[in-house]
Formats: sequence, structure tokens, C-alpha cells
Amino acid sequence: MATIDASIVPARPARRTDWLGRSATFCYLAIAAGQLLFVAFILLFYYPSSLSGNFAAWNDKPLIKGFVAGDGAGNLFFAVHVLMAAVITFGGLVQLVPAIRGRWPAVHRWNGRLYLVSAVALALGGLWLTWVRETWLVLAGAIGITLDALLILAFAALAWRAARARRFVEHRRWALRLFAVASAVWFMRVAYMAWGMATGGAGIGKALDGPFDLFLAFASSLIPLGLAELYLRAGAHGTPAAKQGVALLLTFSGLVILAGSAGAWMMMWSPYL
Ligand code: HEM
Repeated sequence: MATIDASIVPARPARRTDWLGRSATFCYLAIAAGQLLFVAFILLFYYPSSLSGNFAAWNDKPLIKGFVAGDGAGNLFFAVHVLMAAVITFGGLVQLVPAIRGRWPAVHRWNGRLYLVSAVALALGGLWLTWVRETWLVLAGAIGITLDALLILAFAALAWRAARARRFVEHRRWALRLFAVASAVWFMRVAYMAWGMATGGAGIGKALDGPFDLFLAFASSLIPLGLAELYLRAGAHGTPAAKQGVALLLTFSGLVILAGSAGAWMMMWSPYL
């Protein structure tokens, strides 16, 4: 009777069968749900006003410095910033889908270029809005978002360099780190809502100057980055226990993200549509 040589049977993809892979998929789906709500808000609130030149409509929503009469450059930077915000948020979600990477590599390459350009534009434009237009409430908040911009610029350069050199394992790692820090602005809103719902707003100051505000100014980029790093390390050389621990953490994060995103939609975004 013929026997099957085990070496020619293709191994089942580990990512789909283990808990780490499943929890990462769940966490991605939660992020996708939350980020699609953010994109919907940007498309419905900022696109009509920015593309029609009705910049004054931005101020229907509370902002630190949205439309300012007579500030042509500031208004233009703000308009470009919010238009690009939808591009990067949607583009990042597309970029992470393995089926798209595998089946349509050209989509991955072109969307990747667009993603990198929008990451650099948002980081540099955001730095301009923060420090030149002076759009900040608390200095720690401005420093926190500046750290995020620097991480975006650094990781974008490293992801691009690795892709150019066809070092794809390294490219995937830098790209995931870039996605984590480029999601910080969205994550900050979701985290505020999740924390607010869980604690009634403990540590949130009236001028966003409480202990939780100061923590989140930096944690909004460092928590997603830390989670991405743990996932990468557990996947590459984690013990079974470490993989299970990271899987639990990703599942918990996904649940927090779902709750925070629902809260952000109900309290921060849909009331202005
Ligand atoms: C890379 C991803 C980013 C996205 C998706 C994004 C998205 C947005 C959105 C949607 C707004 C409009 C405010 C709102 O309705 O909530 C905004 C405003 C702003 N962003 Fe960003 N942003 C990003 C990165 C950055 C960075 C890195 C900085 C700073 C270095 C920055 C600085 C600002 C400033 C100063 C405002 C004006 C806030 C106000 O007037 O209230 N952004 N951003």
C-alpha cells in the first residue's frame, strides 16, 4: 500500500490554527470595525466641508483650533490633514489583509506607497499644526503627539527601506509597528471612551490635564506599539505559555476596542453628522 511522504504534505498555516493567530484576527477585526467608524465620520463630516471650501463648518464640532478666519495657511494644513486622515486609516486596514497581499501584490505595493506618503504628510502636517499653528491644550499632550509623529517618520522610513531591499520579513515587522503608531490618534479617542465608560472618567481633567490625560498622551502610541511588539516576538520565538499570554492580551484588547469604538461613535462622532 502506498504511503504518503509527510514532507510533501503542505503544512497547515500555523496562524489560522493557533490561539495567537485567532486572537490576532479577532483583534484586527475589532480594530477594523473601530477604524471604519472613524473613516465614516471623517468622510461624512470633514470631506463635504473641506472639498466644498466651507471650512467654517469644521467648528460645528469642538476642536482646539479648526477654522480660523484669515488664517489661510492654517486652514489649508487642517483641510489636507483631515482629508489624508481617511486615506491612511482605510489604507492601513487594507494593507494588513494577508489575502490582498497574496492575491493582488500590485494593490499591496501601490496602497503601500500611498500609505507611506500619507503617513509622512500627516506626521509633518501634524507637527506643523501643533508647533507652528500652536494647536495644543497641555504641553505634555503636544510632546506626546510629537513623539508619535517621530515614531511614524522613523518606522515609515524603515518599512520602506526594508521593502526596497526585498527584506520582506523585516518589512512586515516595521510595517506593523508603523500601523500601530499611525493608529495612535484613533486609539486615543477609543481609549478615552473605554476608560470613561469603565471608570466614569477617573483622572480626566477639565482641560485634558489630569493624570489619565498625561498618561494617554504617551500611551496612545506606546500601548499599540507594545502590543504589536509582543505579538511579533511571541509569533517568532515565544514559548507556548508566552503565546497564550499574548493571545489573552490581544483578545482583551479587542474587546476594549469594540466597547471604546462603540462609545466613540455614539459620543464623539455620530452626534455631529
Ligand atoms: C497619522 C494619523 C493621524 C490621523 C488619522 C489624524 C486625524 C486627525 C483628525 C480626524 C483630526 C480632526 C480632529 C477631530 O475631528 O478629531 C485631526 C486634527 C489634528 N491633528 Fe491629526 N491625525 C494624525 C496624526 C497626527 C499627528 C502625528 C499630529 C501631530 C504631530 C497631529 C496633529 C493634529 C492637530 C494639532 C489637529 C488639530 C486638533 C484640533 O484643532 O482640535 N495629527 N487629526
